[in-house]
Amino acid sequence: MKIIIINGPNLNLLGKREPEIYGSQTFEDYFNELRSKFKHVELDYFQSNIEGELIDKIQEVGFSYDGIILNAAAYTHTSVGIADAVKAISTPVIEVHISNTFAREEFRHHSFISPNVKGIIIGFGMKSYELALQSFL
Ligand code: DQA
Repeated sequence: MKIIIINGPNLNLLGKREPEIYGSQTFEDYFNELRSKFKHVELDYFQSNIEGELIDKIQEVGFSYDGIILNAAAYTHTSVGIADAVKAISTPVIEVHISNTFAREEFRHHSFISPNVKGIIIGFGMKSYELALQSFL
């Protein structure tokens, strides 16, 4: 089972960025925990602040991996390009968000990506990624 977590812009700052919303753990620490908990899964991680790099990665893994866990962060609410990439591939995608986007500003209530994904997990903090992983398993 080959799964990748793809994180979008500003998620490289997890741990430092608005900890009251996103928590105080770095993604690298969380990812290491996930890896040791799910040793039987081939788990990869990619983060970029650049829209085109996220699209390149989705295309690269999207015909061979068993699942993509995608937190497109702010691009969720703006990117037709990422939404089209998710639609174009054969690997199933689960959209995740750390915070409950529906409890925040109105511009976070719309996702271009949601219509093209298998399922969505929103608002469980970092645990959202683990719940997505479990759903693939
Ligand atoms: C986010 C929610 C987005 O609205 C925001 O732009 C992010 C992170 C989340 O995981 O809660 O950067 O995707």
